[in-house]
Amino acid sequence: MERLQKYLARAGVAARRDAEQLILAGRVKVNGKVVKELGFKVSDRDVVEVDGRIVKPEKLVYILMYKPAGYITTVDDPFGRPTVLSLLAGKVKERVFPVGRLDMNTEGLLILTNDGDLAMALTHPKHQVPKTYLALVRGTPNRAKLKELERGVLLEDGYTAPAKVNFKKPEGKNSWIEITIHEGRKRQVRRMFKKIGHPVLKLIRTRIAFLTGYGLKKGSFRYLTPAEVLKLKRLVNSNRG
Ligand code: URA
Repeated sequence: MERLQKYLARAGVAARRDAEQLILAGRVKVNGKVVKELGFKVSDRDVVEVDGRIVKPEKLVYILMYKPAGYITTVDDPFGRPTVLSLLAGKVKERVFPVGRLDMNTEGLLILTNDGDLAMALTHPKHQVPKTYLALVRGTPNRAKLKELERGVLLEDGYTAPAKVNFKKPEGKNSWIEITIHEGRKRQVRRMFKKIGHPVLKLIRTRIAFLTGYGLKKGSFRYLTPAEVLKLKRLVNSNRG
């Protein structure tokens, strides 16, 4: 059972606030009767109508995509650049949206879902969901520089939280470094490496919590299994401090 306004939001009728207005305006019926009470509880077995049209929530879907570079993670782009949603067109009928963001030039793992609650929980810093990136950076940062990143560096929006950092291998004059962070500030990894004087040349997200890109080609996606969805939900619930 859930509150009518949440049901309407899940059905894509309107955001929760606007759904409340529809209810108060008497435009919503449950099993043929107008309901104006905001706390009214419904289940998926009830018949809900808005302005005489039956509305039903979509099935909740959870997708793991390997985002290629060159795609943006916002849903609409005023400049007409390709969005990650275009990679799902014709294949996923539910209206999913990206959880968090990856820069246009970053590739790697991205979760997409129509489950607003889980999306919000996964992006909230208090849940400390670890995200791992492989960064090709200019030059060779020494141990002291990497330690700085581990402890936290001062960016325009404050100190970064402790991170895990590992030197992986050199590539010519540059280096591949693995970094795990729990925050999701805008361009955070790029800004962190820039701060220590080793700007990022290429950035790949290789892991979100326990999810890896194993078996996923660039631009492809798969549905999360029910067990993986449950594990993600448990993860954010157990970190609810
Ligand atoms: N940090 C960045 O700098 N860019 C991303 O896309 C993700 C994390």
